Amino acid sequence: MLHLKEYLSHVKPGIALDVGTRFGEFAFTLVEAMPEGSRVIGIDCDAATVEQAKEKSAGKGVEFQVGDGAHLDFADGSVELAAISNTLHHIENYDAVLDELVRVLRPGGTLLINEMFSDNQNEAQQTHFAQHTLEAKLDMISGGFQRPTWKKDEILAILDRLHLKDVQVLEMLEEEKMDRKLAEKTPKLTAAVEKKAAGHPDFDALMAEAREIQARVEKTGIQRCTQLVYIGRK
Ligand SMILES: C[S@@+](CC[C@H](N)C(=O)[O-])C[C@H]1O[C@@H](n2cnc3c(N)ncnc32)[C@H](O)[C@@H]1O
Repeated sequence: MLHLKEYLSHVKPGIALDVGTRFGEFAFTLVEAMPEGSRVIGIDCDAATVEQAKEKSAGKGVEFQVGDGAHLDFADGSVELAAISNTLHHIENYDAVLDELVRVLRPGGTLLINEMFSDNQNEAQQTHFAQHTLEAKLDMISGGFQRPTWKKDEILAILDRLHLKDVQVLEMLEEEKMDRKLAEKTPKLTAAVEKKAAGHPDFDALMAEAREIQARVEKTGIQRCTQLVYIGRK
């Protein structure tokens, strides 16, 4: 497990933003990693998600706000750390969001990107990759946006143009070969296909994918894909 605090020793007390926070899953890591006297603010564009997050995650040190990562309500240079975790692939114009995160950072402030990647994953992780791929397809069919998981080098190429300083490229791996939460999602995949892809030309293929993933979980397990953690300073 990666202890982020070790890699953020240069960070000063201040505002830490987590854009695309959902229920604060990654923001809680920032609460632990930020120095005392900091504020951790989780931002999500979906108002209903933010309302749920306020209820579910009350008292855990994160303030939740509705906001769009491409138009943040923070002044230039007002933020110490800006993070985006497993969200970049949900955003069509991810460059606009990255530019906005850099805009709000103070000079010397820290940008942190956490994003799962698709290559060099073991058998159990490939089950997670297959599950995530099917979820992304169903999301697209039902009007959401989620592009296929990038390879590690593709993510690095996207971030390269930001020309950040003191870049640290890390990998976050969860050792558990049978991730309970991911395994529990799998039996629900066939129901999700029925609900979201009924009448779609690819319905049968998607249903076969859901069954194949279920069989893979039983045979090889399901382990969270390794995630790229990219830390750089403005
Ligand atoms: C997969 S969740 C990420 C959850 C969490 N950050 C994590 O690491 O587990 C993606 C979240 O990003 C939000 N989102 C998508 N586009 C966004 C945008 N432009 N601005 C803010 N939030 C956005 C979605 O509403 C969703 O809650």
